Amino acid sequence: MKISVIGAGYVGLVTSACLSLDHEVTCIDVDPRKVAELNAGGCPIYEPRLRETIDKGNIEFTQDLGSLDRSDVIFICVGTPCYKGQCDIRQVLAAADDIYRSTKSSKTVVIKSTVVPGTNDKVLDVLNAGVICHKCVSNPEFLREGSAVEDFLHPDRVVIGARESESYDLLEQVYLWHDCFIHMDVVSAEMAKYACNCALATKISFINEISNLCEVTGANVNKVRKVMGTDPRIGSSFYEQGIGYGGSCFPKDVEALIEHGRWLGCPTPLLESVCDVNDNQYTGCLTKLEKYLWLKDSRVAVWGVSFKPETDDIRHSPAVEIIKELLGSGANVRVHDVVANPNLYAELRSWSKKTGISIATVEYYEETDPCEMTKGSDALVIATAWRQYTKAKVSEIEPQVIVDCRGVLNGREAIKQGKCYACFGNPNNS
Ligand code: NAD
Ligand code: UGA
Repeated sequence: MKISVIGAGYVGLVTSACLSLDHEVTCIDVDPRKVAELNAGGCPIYEPRLRETIDKGNIEFTQDLGSLDRSDVIFICVGTPCYKGQCDIRQVLAAADDIYRSTKSSKTVVIKSTVVPGTNDKVLDVLNAGVICHKCVSNPEFLREGSAVEDFLHPDRVVIGARESESYDLLEQVYLWHDCFIHMDVVSAEMAKYACNCALATKISFINEISNLCEVTGANVNKVRKVMGTDPRIGSSFYEQGIGYGGSCFPKDVEALIEHGRWLGCPTPLLESVCDVNDNQYTGCLTKLEKYLWLKDSRVAVWGVSFKPETDDIRHSPAVEIIKELLGSGANVRVHDVVANPNLYAELRSWSKKTGISIATVEYYEETDPCEMTKGSDALVIATAWRQYTKAKVSEIEPQVIVDCRGVLNGREAIKQGKCYACFGNPNNS
């Protein structure tokens, strides 16, 4: 099948690469630098197995819209950022307009971007403004960054929201290696994507609230979670306490559904609380640090910048918030991350221009051994659970103060070695 994918971001690239193993794919992006880098054999994002999958497939990268009219199916995988709390669908509508203007025959257009319920109808209006009658399908994506290729090739489900039975059949031919299809109408598919992300975000805020209570009561959150996990109705996965969820999706999607509910006159107080808990959670790291340290003029080493391991994505990363707070408090900051430092550098430059806060003393480490770069620091903050950090030996960490926001170190060992060790939810209480 001939397939075009509009958008070469995390979702568009992974979709293009994986579908190109069975189909002829053209991946289109408006960003000339991304297209040039991809054509030169590089990859604009860090995502395990992505470039090797691209290299195995039948795929081309272009800015040109010419492939749209030659395609059987067109995927829309552009961004839907949060704008004033709302899901901003302007990129999706612009992509639909590109399809409308560039096609002379009827196409099946698939919205993979996360869009609020009702968007499919709006896209269909744009597509069908002329005489050609296109079809528009909702096929939300559930991949996670860091394991995106694996998730795409082995999903729990492929949701197909459509108006006509031919669209279900066509999409099943696109995903010919899957057998986990769930058919439904378009608005249910749109809603299901938000329901999943909001449920996952709710689990995280819930465990963080319980974890905060563990800290004041002296209870051990690991033991509490173990008990919760013995009840299959509750489960134990996706209940890791810490500095809260970040990334390009949970924060914006929870906020967008709250705002959409407000607009529909159907408030979502539970989700508002999920957001509030999350917005405050990272400050726990600074409170713990300030117990041991006067931040002004202190030297703080931070391990981890990305919002989770195995990605260079720093969008809404709690680690970045902590770094900014440290800089704002007058601390000298040195950071270690496996791949996300270039993104942090760019983000801090524009933040510094806006706030006037100096970033001149920030030091960036990537290849240096993480323990080595802590030398000369007063404290270490562990903000992202990269595998490299979980392997670190406490005896090789120089700073006396350690705030382990992701529970990656052996806390008991750290305390035994006389460190001022803090983490979330008392997991080291016996
Ligand atoms: P992204 O910002 O990384 O990529 C979007 C890409 O679209 C950019 O490269 C941009 O240049 C391009 N683009 C924008 N308008 C265009 C146009 N008219 N024509 C061609 N290219 C255009 O975004 P992403 O992280 O890939 O997310 C895309 C969508 O998928 C969002 O709705 C997001 O919520 C959803 N989603 C993301 C993930 C994830 O893990 N990142 C997972 C599931 C769903
Ligand atoms: C998430 C969902 O897991 C995907 O199913 C979804 O497709 C995607 O959002 C999306 O819509 O974009 P992702 O953001 O890549 O995927 O990463 P997750 O692994 O879900 O982690 C999100 C955040 O929650 C991270 O900051 C992580 O550190 C945090 N988290 C996760 C916790 O704090 N505790 C946990 O138990 C799990």
